[in-house]
Amino acid sequence: MEYLTHRGEKLPLIGFGTYRLGEREPAEEADTLRYGIEKLGMTLIDTAEMYGSGLSEELLRPVIKGYDRSLLFIIDKILPENAEKGLYRECCQRSLERLGTDCIDLYLLHWRGGVDMQDMVDNMEILVRDGLIRHWGVSNFDTHEMEELLACKNGANCFCDQILYNLTERGAEYDLIPLCREHDVLVIAYSPLCNCCSARMAAAGDEVVKAMAEREGKTPESLMLSFAVRQRDMVTIFKTSGIPHLLWDMQNVFLPIPEGDMAALSARFAPPEKKYPLEKI
Ligand SMILES: NC(=O)c1ccc[n+]([C@@H]2O[C@H](COP(=O)([O-])OP(=O)(O)OC[C@H]3O[C@@H](n4cnc5c(N)ncnc54)[C@H](OP(=O)(O)O)[C@@H]3O)[C@@H](O)[C@H]2O)c1
Repeated sequence: MEYLTHRGEKLPLIGFGTYRLGEREPAEEADTLRYGIEKLGMTLIDTAEMYGSGLSEELLRPVIKGYDRSLLFIIDKILPENAEKGLYRECCQRSLERLGTDCIDLYLLHWRGGVDMQDMVDNMEILVRDGLIRHWGVSNFDTHEMEELLACKNGANCFCDQILYNLTERGAEYDLIPLCREHDVLVIAYSPLCNCCSARMAAAGDEVVKAMAEREGKTPESLMLSFAVRQRDMVTIFKTSGIPHLLWDMQNVFLPIPEGDMAALSARFAPPEKKYPLEKI
């Protein structure tokens, strides 16, 4: 594993997503998570109260229990509809119970919704003060939303913006990622493998991607992860439910993409030349 340091936290460049985990084969999924933690250093785990209405958090409880808690970095998220009702403490406590831990490392507002921004910051700061969470951040915030947040009192304490970013979704490169870098807000990229079956198959099946991956001794999925981690200043979160995919995906992922290959990828999947609204899943 390779790491970055953000606001004093040493974080793995690649973390585990848990969307839709805990719903079908929890025993196999828990084993995959343990394998990732122990053999690959995937100690950063992303979940949300929304995922399986708490089932993903519950899947994590026995996994978390098996390790020194300080070894893991757990990200969780509150739904905007709950934040709008002011249920920060209640939701956070329910998540803590499902996770079987006493503190969440990073707690995010899942997306903007109709949440009052200053009220969100104030509530997140109270959760930090009271020790329920260690850091707070946001997810799916586009540039104007980040600007609004950064203008709030204590808004600059926002640890991260977790956003959709992958080889085929590079819109954030235009102005959102530069803004985050300027304000020391960590970008956490989600869905680096393009999430849904058809989008992933289209990217992984692309002739340029396939040929490049083969030449570099990677799978297309592993190449897509190499793309996401290439600048070493973002955390990337992907999901797999089984050990075979996990091993393929992590194969040679930290080998740099040669400059010529990067140019070919950019020709195939061009970064934007103007502003587009941030895509979300
Ligand atoms: N903040 C947000 O709003 C938000 C939104 C979406 C996602 N996320 C987070 O980001 C995480 C990752 O995103 P994601 O789950 O949407 O998508 P992803 O990681 O881009 O793709 C996951 C899909 O790729 C498949 N896959 C993995 N390796 C494969 C391989 N070698 N060959 C074929 N298929 C492979 C997985 O299937 P198998 O399980 O069969 O391997 C799974 O269906 C989520 O789990 C979640 O924690 C956050």
